[in-house]
Amino acid sequence: MRLISAQEVSKHNKREDCWVIIHGKVYDLTKFLPEHPGGERIILKQAGKDGTAAFDQIHPLDIIKQYLPPEAFLGEIDPATVVKTAKVETEEDKRRRLAIEKKPALSEMLNLYDFEAVASQVLTAEAWAYYSSGAEDEITLRENHNAFHRIWLRPRVMRNVLNVDSSTKILGHHSSFPLYITATALGKLGHPEGEVVLTRASYKQKIIQMIPTLASCSLDEMISARGEGQIQFFQLYVNSDKNITKKIVQAAEEKGCKALFITVDAPQLGRREKDMRVKFVDAPPDVQGEHEIRRDRGAALAISKFIDPSLNWDDLKWFMSITSMPIVLKGIQTSEDAILAAKYGCKGIVLSNHGGRQLDFARSAIEILPEVVDSLKKEGLLDSIEIYVDGGIRRGTDIFKAIALGAKAVGIGRPMLYAMSSYGQEGVEHALQLLKDELEMVMRLMGVNTLADIRPEMVDIKNLKDHNFVPKDYLFSNVYDKPIPRRSKL
Ligand code: HEM
Ligand SMILES: Cc1cc2nc3c(=O)[nH]c(=O)nc-3n(C[C@H](O)[C@H](O)[C@H](O)COP(=O)(O)O)c2cc1C
Repeated sequence: MRLISAQEVSKHNKREDCWVIIHGKVYDLTKFLPEHPGGERIILKQAGKDGTAAFDQIHPLDIIKQYLPPEAFLGEIDPATVVKTAKVETEEDKRRRLAIEKKPALSEMLNLYDFEAVASQVLTAEAWAYYSSGAEDEITLRENHNAFHRIWLRPRVMRNVLNVDSSTKILGHHSSFPLYITATALGKLGHPEGEVVLTRASYKQKIIQMIPTLASCSLDEMISARGEGQIQFFQLYVNSDKNITKKIVQAAEEKGCKALFITVDAPQLGRREKDMRVKFVDAPPDVQGEHEIRRDRGAALAISKFIDPSLNWDDLKWFMSITSMPIVLKGIQTSEDAILAAKYGCKGIVLSNHGGRQLDFARSAIEILPEVVDSLKKEGLLDSIEIYVDGGIRRGTDIFKAIALGAKAVGIGRPMLYAMSSYGQEGVEHALQLLKDELEMVMRLMGVNTLADIRPEMVDIKNLKDHNFVPKDYLFSNVYDKPIPRRSKL
């Protein structure tokens, strides 16, 4: 085994020649730099240095074996040559430390916006930007929330609602209420343990977790964190290399994941400017200037082999040949594609615009739901496929409205990250309990005992398509972080 000195590594500190130490091993990341979906800049900050701490905050160790070619590994670092430096507390570290010390008790969290307000203070600037940002003007991000406010309720009374049962089945698997935790990448940005926190909380609350391809934890870690009988689904970003994709899918199936959710709304990454702006802060000097970074330079170049832009309907046959997990398409946004998904044999679709992070001005899932249900019904396909929606779910009423309009369940993303980042597993459990309690209260107030009793005529959707009609919403406005550049940067 080749031993490499720290001094030798430090010479390879530029874009054209970039070595990084990760867990005592030296890698040549020069060729990988332009492909890194997180951008070149982030890796260049670690060029010629030990990048372990920065790497561990984001990635599971096995990502290297999975995606880097073996020749990128150069040798082991010679420990005798490493000079240890003490970490000093920066202004930002201090701000966060104080915010964590001063945060309210978990019992004071009365709704999901309360978690968001705490998370905005306790997260690092990078994590907050990554989690909270949406594409471009964030019109779709806000619309995901606003659309629910254009649906009103028509409660029935005198219906004996002593007993209310919100449990359901999703693809045949039990769920204590019609909600699952959807895939969100990079959990360790918010909590040192990452997505396993969501695994444990889902188990406690008897709901299903969807595991992301690009999690911070390894698949093995998330599988090992599973409780007895716990159900997990797997979210897939299709890699351009079919062998890698096949390996990922078959590993998920072997390890007991019960469905494959293929993300279809991200042939390239959306332009999330709030997130991009944070990455400009602290850039190493050799990265400033005209040689800009793929992802930071703009969406047009943010294509990576981690997400295959050539994915198309014909590929579904191949997926069905490599797995017997039911296939669900995540990111359907029109009735035409919903019909195609059903015709191609998919067992489910998620109406989703990726939490407003991809195409700005995509409509909200809840707005699309009625037309998707109508078209599937007309084609006689409604019974062959389950429909889920995600984006902007923050209240029990939101869940009720989605079920009334024909969804089997809803997915939830950011609020779980916020609850995890501010209060860990207990926080996620509490946030889920709040939602379940809200839903059961709404069911009682609406005069229904089970989800099957929730009918389309219980919601008034005449304003749903009128995008100007939105009631003033103080809680949302209070936590919404506007994508407005700081003045000093203008
Ligand atoms: C010192 C080395 C590395 C550091 C510091 C690093 C850091 C990061 C960061 C901060 C992100 C998030 C970007 C964002 O906010 O959107 C990211 C994304 C990503 N990185 Fe790395 N990374 C490193 C090496 C690697 C390696 C070696 C691989 C694979 C072989 C890899 C694969 C990925 C992938 C797939 C993503 C996309 C996740 C997403 O945006 O959803 N990274 N990386
Ligand atoms: C921080 C973050 C990371 C995400 N990562 C992924 C991902 O890796 N794969 C994916 O299919 N969707 C991803 N999504 C989209 C979510 O699965 C989901 O569609 C969206 O978050 C739902 O909206 P909500 O956050 O308003 O609940 C991500 C969303 C966020 C906020």
